[in-house]
Amino acid sequence: MCGIIAYAGRREAEPILIEGLRRLEYRGYDSAGLATLTGPQVHLRKQAGRIDNLIRYLKDRPAPGCHGISHTRWATHGPANDRNAHPHIGGNGDGLVAVVHNGVIENYSALKHHLQEQGIVFQTATDTEVIAQLIAHHLNGDLMAAVRKVLPLLKGTYGLAVVSPREPEVIVGARLGSPLVLGIGKGENFLASDPSALAGNTNKVVYLQDHQVCLLSRDRWTIEDQNPERTPATVAIQDIDWDPGDADKGEFEHFMLKEIYEQPEALENAMRGRLDEADASAHFGGLNLDTQALRGMDRIIITACGTSYHAGLVGEYLFEEIARIPVEVEYASEFRYRNRPIERNTLMLAITQSGETADTLAALRESKRKGHPTLALCNVVGSTIARETDGGVYLHAGPEIGVASTKAFTNQVLVLTMLALYLGRMRNISSLQGVRILEELRAMPKMVHRTFACHDAVRRIAEKYFQANNFLYLGRQYLYPVALEGALKLKEISYIHAEGYPAAEMKHGPIALVDEETPSVFLIPRGAVFDKVMSNLEEIKARGGPVIAIASEQDQEVATHVEDVIYIPEVPEYLQPLVAVVPLQLLAYHVALLRGCDVDRPRNLAKSVTVE
Ligand code: F6R
Repeated sequence: MCGIIAYAGRREAEPILIEGLRRLEYRGYDSAGLATLTGPQVHLRKQAGRIDNLIRYLKDRPAPGCHGISHTRWATHGPANDRNAHPHIGGNGDGLVAVVHNGVIENYSALKHHLQEQGIVFQTATDTEVIAQLIAHHLNGDLMAAVRKVLPLLKGTYGLAVVSPREPEVIVGARLGSPLVLGIGKGENFLASDPSALAGNTNKVVYLQDHQVCLLSRDRWTIEDQNPERTPATVAIQDIDWDPGDADKGEFEHFMLKEIYEQPEALENAMRGRLDEADASAHFGGLNLDTQALRGMDRIIITACGTSYHAGLVGEYLFEEIARIPVEVEYASEFRYRNRPIERNTLMLAITQSGETADTLAALRESKRKGHPTLALCNVVGSTIARETDGGVYLHAGPEIGVASTKAFTNQVLVLTMLALYLGRMRNISSLQGVRILEELRAMPKMVHRTFACHDAVRRIAEKYFQANNFLYLGRQYLYPVALEGALKLKEISYIHAEGYPAAEMKHGPIALVDEETPSVFLIPRGAVFDKVMSNLEEIKARGGPVIAIASEQDQEVATHVEDVIYIPEVPEYLQPLVAVVPLQLLAYHVALLRGCDVDRPRNLAKSVTVE
């Protein structure tokens, strides 16, 4: 949510900042801006809208200098207009400091009031300008000292980059609850909210921890703790593996479509080295819990948001069936404030693509505070949750740039299945059953690949229904969470109202929505509840609702009951979510395209939600 990239070096800063912002645009795209420095002069450029607007603006008004900060915004305080775009200037018009900020300052109103009483005039409606004005207020020749004075006054979260013409060689950064990473180059250094912004410039990074501040110039960098003693931080320089293909769309029109098509390979990557033939189980390097501790767990609470929450719901079915462990799944935003009693021997499992979601992070911290062992399934290596969890499993889905999550979901479900197998093998799964599950897992990348054969059918169905105002998504058991996920995909990128429901539950209310104009997407592959779902489907048909069925290959019967069928390969029931979600991702994609929506950057959304 919002992106920061800052540069101090020998090259012109503007193209480096713009390239970094482009890589970060998926995190927020309401407005963008930058400030560069040439000696005592600040060159501030900012524009509402996408980064392309800023680029057009810069054509006539280039920002010179080898030193600068920049930001792409997801608005929290104040509308998305030029004025509220970052950087913000502090110093009552004197241009003493420029600040970019990710996060939210909760006490900004009181701080602003206090500053206004001292005659400081504010130019914007943002919480960030308060930080800029405060730093300018405390600046007395030493930017780092001024920032350090201000940080204790701020209540909330921040990832900050600050420059000042009074000290034109340096950039100061600080982090509390909003990620920040220092990029180390040769004769140049970088600061960014996300290492992806640094691709092509450096692969050497240091992740800042909460309560750390840093200073960088072109030839040096330091990181220290925020304590009055200014203790130098213990830092670990990490190497990031960039795949040059990661950051571009290749042959695809959109990142979302590319990422849908990357799913077979992503699944392979998540399984690589983790399937254990000898033990007929899966194994993971970073659980940091020994077999006995895991064997002693009586319950799992899964916590997550959005798509990751839906994966968690699939996990509930998997753990209960395969490992016979009771599971509850909680929205992280609810869990963090609920103070629910948690039984002893409960394992807390957080699921997150970004590893930065504010609510999931808070839920994880709350669980740790209460003394429960925590595990996290995370995609972004080195993210805050990945670093704070007791143990974890990386999803290895590769960077997910499209705002609508696709390959992260399937990898989450796959990793949950492997975990269920691992825990199941300690409890009630025989080695022969374990071997069968391993074989079935190994076949999944091919199965997901085979699912792409439905793409043309999905495109035709999208053409038929893209003008509908409402959609229902219905499924049962393992496919109920997939119905929720299908509905979420459609609403977030096409802005059509969609409801996901357990298929039998719809007659307790939502069936009232059914009419000739409201398509129902039924997840009805062959399985234990096939006949039951078929009855639910008939109930919709009897009320004139058009039905799109997601059915097993070769199932001729379903086709005789419904208007449209999309076929998916036959796989065991516990693996059906992995293939059933693919046509729903494609349907959302094509409906959104036909409605002229920006698939990769849907309105009001951002990729990583770092505010609560
Ligand atoms: C939907 C989507 C969001 C995220 C949610 C959690 O397509 O992407 O619902 O799933 O914001 O994000 P992570 O998984 O990064 O914690």
